[in-house]
Amino acid sequence: MNPPRPHVAAALGALFSLLLPFAAPAATPAAAPAAHPPGAAIASAHALATDAGLDILREGGNAFDAAVAVSSVLSVVEPISSGLGGGGFFLLHDARTGKDTFLDAREMSPEAATPERYLDKDGNLDPDKSENGPWSAGLPGLPAALVELASKHGRLPLARSLAPAIRIAREGFPVYARLERGYASRREVMERYPGTRAVFLADGDPPKVGETLRQPELARTLELLAEKGFDGFYRGETARKLVASVNAEGGKWTAAELAAYHVREREPIRFRYRDWDITTAPPTSSGGVALAEILNIVSGWNLQELDAAHRTHLLVEAMRRAYRDRTIYLGDPDFTRVPVARLTSADYAAGLRATIHPDKATPSELLSGKPAPLEDDETTHFSIIDADGNIVSATQTVNLLYGSGLVAEGTGVLLNDEMDDFALKPGTPNAFGVMGFEANAPKPGKRMLSSMTPTIMASPSKVAVLGAPGGSRIITEVLLGILGYDAGLSAQEVAALPRIHHQWMPDVISAEKGALDADTVKALEAMGHTVNAAEGTWGNLQTVAWDRAAGTLEGGTDPRNPVGKAATLEATER
Ligand code: GLY
Repeated sequence: MNPPRPHVAAALGALFSLLLPFAAPAATPAAAPAAHPPGAAIASAHALATDAGLDILREGGNAFDAAVAVSSVLSVVEPISSGLGGGGFFLLHDARTGKDTFLDAREMSPEAATPERYLDKDGNLDPDKSENGPWSAGLPGLPAALVELASKHGRLPLARSLAPAIRIAREGFPVYARLERGYASRREVMERYPGTRAVFLADGDPPKVGETLRQPELARTLELLAEKGFDGFYRGETARKLVASVNAEGGKWTAAELAAYHVREREPIRFRYRDWDITTAPPTSSGGVALAEILNIVSGWNLQELDAAHRTHLLVEAMRRAYRDRTIYLGDPDFTRVPVARLTSADYAAGLRATIHPDKATPSELLSGKPAPLEDDETTHFSIIDADGNIVSATQTVNLLYGSGLVAEGTGVLLNDEMDDFALKPGTPNAFGVMGFEANAPKPGKRMLSSMTPTIMASPSKVAVLGAPGGSRIITEVLLGILGYDAGLSAQEVAALPRIHHQWMPDVISAEKGALDADTVKALEAMGHTVNAAEGTWGNLQTVAWDRAAGTLEGGTDPRNPVGKAATLEATER
């Protein structure tokens, strides 16, 4: 995790005082809300991706075509966070039909990946197998999502929307600090593999800030996808190379299971918080269920009447309970019965609320479970609204920094290490310190539980689109973003908000430095909380918002990431 830059920490401290009062109700419309936005807006973690999306809109594409461009460019310029070798979730709103669609392009477990593969000789979870190399990778889902977005939702051919990514892969882009830092932290693993060395050591040494990173083999892989669609990745030349490379490194994939990969279309989770209709990620994500649980619980209190310590206490108690349920109940709904209706119901939240003492922390161990460790900032999110009111809220990932570290030879495709998101050993924390049991045990073809939470929130006067990376902290980043919009903050203020987090285990409130003042920390400690109030920054929230009453659009990009970009486009520019 990176230490906060001093000017960012100061800005965050000021902004958190805006969030904490929660005082402002959602704005009420002064006039009849507009049916269409005055243009388009895109926010993503890299300016080249945002610009590619804007270009596709200018060429007549809709938000879904722009999503193909943004997603594929992020896959080229942010190998640290996501890519063709990973997966993602795409929450879509079609303005013409009013329909919301959730594309689950999460990776699937290969058949040979049984839990014993991930244990050492003493039967303990071996992170070198679950986080690195061929066994850590699930079957990728992102390329299938791009094909589906273009063919079922877009206006432009896939090849046109992939063109910017192909060009940038071939011509290169300037290496930035996060890429260089992340490489240093994963270097030992990455340089085990010839395919990875060919990409990242092409000029003889690791990528350095200011150098140009070119990925000609990835450009070729993208071209095959552009020409042949699904078959261009999941069958034929690319598929053969992916399977050969994984198997040459000691893993076990088959051509048949790669060709059987499919995107699952799922019903989003919907619930109401105050004036807002929230539409968000269903299982295989844990995000929507946890968000609904937390917001349903806290909706029972008048938060604005409370001091900062009590507001934080109640939020944390709600987080604690939702993350406990995540651990026990959540998994791939195609394999396990997830009690979504019960967990997201008002009655269930009322029951949990009744277990919360107004000024005493509930020790997590009383809710049962075992302790857990760390966190980091990988994964990437982008948000799009187009001039017709179509929306994309998408989060995509290769899991940990640079995924498995394994680039399949001859493809430029860096494979994910998403298998670590399964409960590979029941009750043992993964790299994010979260654990699981049977509901999230690996099975052939099963999708591992995720925290990715692409979300859309709509009130009578405003629509906001948001999401973030951050492993298990994604859910609380999105939660604070929702509360920020509800408190009347701008998109940029929402992206910059200081962060706090609690995930049941470990039983500690994590707070970015400056997010909680000394008096609040003292008061929380007196209630029985353990507070780590000086953590580094985390997350990378990207958001756009359309104020229907005022007829304005805005974007917010997380100031923790200097290469992100939020931009708007006048309707007349299309
Ligand atoms: N790989 C992080 C997540 O999906 O939650």
